[in-house]
Amino acid sequence: MAFPKIWCIAALGFLLPFSSAHTDFFTSIGHMTDLINTEKDLVISLKDYIKAEESKLEQIKKWAEKLDKLTDTATKDPEGFLGHPVNAFKLMKRLNTEWGELENLVLKDMSDGFISNMTIQRQFFPNDEDQTGAAKALLRLQDTYNLDTDTLSRGNLPGVKHKSFLTAEDCFELGKIAYTEADYYHTELWMEQALKQLDEGEVSSADKVYILDYLSYAVYQQGDLSKAVMLTKRLLELDPEHQRANGNMKYFEYIMAKEKEANKSSTESEDQAEKETEVKKKDYLPERRKYEMLCRGEGLKMTPRRQKRLFCRYYDGNRNPRYILGPVKQEDEWDKPRIVRFLDIISDEEIETVKELAKPRLSRATVHDPETGKLTTAHYRVSKSAWLSGYESPVVSRINTRIQDLTGLDVSTAEELQVANYGVGGQYEPHFDFARKDEPDAFKELGTGNRIATWLFYMSDVSAGGATVFPEVGASVWPRKGTAVFWYNLFPSGEGDYSTRHAACPVLVGNKWVSNKWLHERGQEFRRPCTLSELE
Ligand code: OGA
Ligand code: FE2
Repeated sequence: MAFPKIWCIAALGFLLPFSSAHTDFFTSIGHMTDLINTEKDLVISLKDYIKAEESKLEQIKKWAEKLDKLTDTATKDPEGFLGHPVNAFKLMKRLNTEWGELENLVLKDMSDGFISNMTIQRQFFPNDEDQTGAAKALLRLQDTYNLDTDTLSRGNLPGVKHKSFLTAEDCFELGKIAYTEADYYHTELWMEQALKQLDEGEVSSADKVYILDYLSYAVYQQGDLSKAVMLTKRLLELDPEHQRANGNMKYFEYIMAKEKEANKSSTESEDQAEKETEVKKKDYLPERRKYEMLCRGEGLKMTPRRQKRLFCRYYDGNRNPRYILGPVKQEDEWDKPRIVRFLDIISDEEIETVKELAKPRLSRATVHDPETGKLTTAHYRVSKSAWLSGYESPVVSRINTRIQDLTGLDVSTAEELQVANYGVGGQYEPHFDFARKDEPDAFKELGTGNRIATWLFYMSDVSAGGATVFPEVGASVWPRKGTAVFWYNLFPSGEGDYSTRHAACPVLVGNKWVSNKWLHERGQEFRRPCTLSELE
């Protein structure tokens, strides 16, 4: 919760222009900025190529014009023309050497520079996986933020600086990617959008017949037979000989007839089975739905009564000598679990240093596979991260000390500072930071016990999206550059606090940088002693 103290508002008030950031290109912006420069470089060499090609054509044109005039005169009076000895000599010379030279010029390849540049740069190009990843990110954003297809296609997003829209062909491409993922829901949305843009008169190479082919199949897959029939009819109006559509049409009619028959004799047990699957679906949905609502800033579960008991204060780290004279600003973000935010707790210079140290090392973030116990990449964690040790930079060391001073917890047993960068669509779905009882080996090799607490620095503002949300308790924490949030993952007894389940919402517009410190149990025995009750 942000509070109406002057500094609380001041910290909220400034929005920095979003800083840009990085092989899974689509997982973070950092490496993607390099691609912008690559493209710029290619455009320059393409323009050089065009210039060279134009000057070549210019030379050829001049030759053609000169010869045009000359042959005009010569053909009018060939004998008279050749009566002049210079003309006779020049004709020999032209045919024996000059036409040959011109032929060489016509054949001359001007594309060397551009092609070799292309060959060099191509090794750094994104691949199919990157393109699919970026497309899937768009589809994910569409769901999380309830964006209708038309809004997304017209690029009407909140907080965008560079508006960009999708062509009918782009929409068709997105639909095809959804189709190859057997995601017929998004196939339908995007094929329909492509069709709509074409119906509105957009000039495009996208073909309505192809679009209708995919669309009718996606609609059929989702069980809307009559709409599938309607779409197939429309396809057949455009291309009456379309083989598959004709085949499908017959098939749809056959199925509809069969369904009518089956409806008559449907038994109660089928109804029961249907109800059960529906219940299952509902059981599965809540967390996802809560998560997505919180990401959109809806469904916050704070009452005015509880809110009144959230304060902001100056905090001296419990009379820590380093903070007595210069206490730091602290706000209560949430009561249960208690989440506090520290303001102006990392400077812009420190942020830049941490980002620069991390950038060359950013790689796709991994998670513990509970089955194998190994680290792997996962669709539910899409970001790039790097680990920084206090030994490599005084800035990192200073940051670690700050965390120790302000939490009162020993950082010598903590994990190194993790820096994460989320690009557009980057997210981390609901998870616990601590290891549960059924995974006792998770932090075994560290030998420092479970993750007692999490400290999370926000190192950028995010133009839209990118909140940290706690679906169990209905809390959202919005990134604010220069601040940090802190919460305990374990009760003093060492039991895991399940209300700390949290997620990083997908970034809708902009780019999100965070860094976090996971503090461990060892070393805290006297700093945070055990209590008698388990869940206190
Ligand atoms: C994490 C995490 C939240 C965020 O990295 O474990 O929960 O907002 N991050 O980035
Ligand atoms: Fe986390």
